[in-house]
Amino acid sequence: MPDQNYAPSPEFAAQAVGTADLFDQAEKDFEGFWAEQARTHVTWRTDFDTTLDWSDAPFAKWFVGGQLNVAENCVDRHVEAGNGDRVAIHFEGAEGDTQTITYADLQKRVCQAANAFTELGVRTGDRVAIYLPMIPEAIVAMLACARLGAPHSVIFGGFSADAIRSRVADAEARVVVTADGQHRKGKVAPLKTAVDEAVRGEDSPVEHVVVVRRTDADVEWTDKDVWWDELVDRQSTEHEAQAMDAEHPLFILYTSGTTGKPKGILHTSGGYLAQAAYTNRIVHDLHPETDVYWCTADIGWVTGHSYLVYGPLANGATQVVYEGTPDHPHQGRWWEIVEKYKVSILYTAPTAIRACMKWGADIPAKYDLSSIRVLGSVGEPINPEAWRWYREHIGGGSAPIVDTWWQTETGAIMISPLPGVTTLEPGSAQRPIPGISAEILDDMGEPFTEPEKVGYLVLTKPWPSMLRGIWGDDARYKETYWSRFGSEYYFAGDGAKYDADGNIWLLGRVDDVMNVSGHRLSTAEIESALVSHPTVAEAAVVGAADDMTGQAVWAFVILRGDAANDDEEKTVADLKAHVAGEISPIAKPKSIMVVSELPKTRSGKIMRRLLKDVAEGREIGDSTTLTDASVMDFIKKGMSKG
Ligand code: WTA
Repeated sequence: MPDQNYAPSPEFAAQAVGTADLFDQAEKDFEGFWAEQARTHVTWRTDFDTTLDWSDAPFAKWFVGGQLNVAENCVDRHVEAGNGDRVAIHFEGAEGDTQTITYADLQKRVCQAANAFTELGVRTGDRVAIYLPMIPEAIVAMLACARLGAPHSVIFGGFSADAIRSRVADAEARVVVTADGQHRKGKVAPLKTAVDEAVRGEDSPVEHVVVVRRTDADVEWTDKDVWWDELVDRQSTEHEAQAMDAEHPLFILYTSGTTGKPKGILHTSGGYLAQAAYTNRIVHDLHPETDVYWCTADIGWVTGHSYLVYGPLANGATQVVYEGTPDHPHQGRWWEIVEKYKVSILYTAPTAIRACMKWGADIPAKYDLSSIRVLGSVGEPINPEAWRWYREHIGGGSAPIVDTWWQTETGAIMISPLPGVTTLEPGSAQRPIPGISAEILDDMGEPFTEPEKVGYLVLTKPWPSMLRGIWGDDARYKETYWSRFGSEYYFAGDGAKYDADGNIWLLGRVDDVMNVSGHRLSTAEIESALVSHPTVAEAAVVGAADDMTGQAVWAFVILRGDAANDDEEKTVADLKAHVAGEISPIAKPKSIMVVSELPKTRSGKIMRRLLKDVAEGREIGDSTTLTDASVMDFIKKGMSKG
């Protein structure tokens, strides 16, 4: 049934949080609509007087005059409302250890951590880096920062010492929070060692490293180090939160762009929280009193920020936080967790769904998944086959799937079905949600609506959770997002088209950003990691279509004269390990081809398009602009040899 679509059942529609009239309200009064969302989903210490100040575009100010404390919104207000006994977090550790954390518990833990950070000298405005596995302390540390108005910069636990060093330096973080190790598939993997290496030296801005005891692995100890339990556990469980301006910075999150240097995406407090909470309610159809929600993302990515920490906690949800992987100790681990906690809303990524498809439908079939009533997808386009499998085998053939398009930069969901309203079209993220406006432009920057024509996705109005800039680089912010089609349009970097029903289909990145298993990687960043290896003279990287991971990293390298005769297999293995060490194992190329030339235009630009043709096993496209067309023949011969 390739063309089948799926209307919401009347029962689902009747109880849904997100209703059709939201579209009309937002259409009629854009600012009034968002003001209402901000007042509904956020508790303000001081109400705002101006909904949107766009006079300094593209630098937006939302909810001007308003004051709030984000952590208070995520924790304290639920306790005050009498829900202190509600479970905030069902923590499921990688080793089978568990914790049940109520909102009252969370409040105490966040207050203690806020007091601890204060003792270390952290003040409003100071930056704190967080490099932790998926353990409760990660969430507690983020909220403690929010409570103090000290922007956090969470660094994904898979990143290397170099990646930590550059992020810590860029944000000038005074404190890093890490752990003595992390559990990975039954083994203990080091974590603190990367931090040690990253903060070593006089020039590091880091004064203190707070170390959570997680694995009892032996760690080296330095003057900067302090154990989390020794510092935090003795603190008072009370802490008076200060109100912050709506535009007070909440966090910086680094993400790949088209150049080698990651961008520090800046998000602020009021607008971010309002849209994270609002979208979590209407898109995931969250009923905080009855649902058990589970977002499988790591807090190192934006999905973990908006839909594991800020959105669900602002809404007072009960959620599962899982430290481990889907396939350890067995491939039914996720479904075992769904059954155990009666998870009703599951939000995950297409790459995970494809992996489960490969393992087979008989695995989820062994568990009782009948609690599931909403499924979500994020990070990359979900192919219709995976969509149908997800609905059939995880969603009991009836759960609506929300395919949510958004970005680190947008802070929250922008394009998605509403599960109680939208007739679902597998593979398409469909329509902008109420309050959001998108268009598709052609090469000339003209909007069009013709079906099946491919163009560029743009956003045409500011939105509350939009990035407020790139940390320390206003020029790059304007140039990257607000110049491609003029200052009226936010350029998302994604290709898109409409279908005949007006649904939007996202078609992947149009810039030099790759999407591997939902992780954003820049070709330039991996190229510079390769070139930093002593044997490499030149490198070109492309993202090639891949059945499992969406895209896979393919690298083409020219070796230096003296290395060219070395054992090629070993060189390739060394280079893969080198990239993993320089950036992260997720950036490791799937394939590295040693070549003698790279295809270049007369102006010296590498024609990645042709390399992509090779990697995807296609006929090579137009190569007439190459300086030397025979280069591609050599590369193709090399391919058939391998
Ligand atoms: C891609 C993740 C198609 C897109 C929240 C975007 C998607 C980039 C979808 C942002 C989706 C994310 N359908 N593509 N539902 N969701 N993308 O910053 O290319 O890690 O620009 O944010 O992921 O990735 P990021």
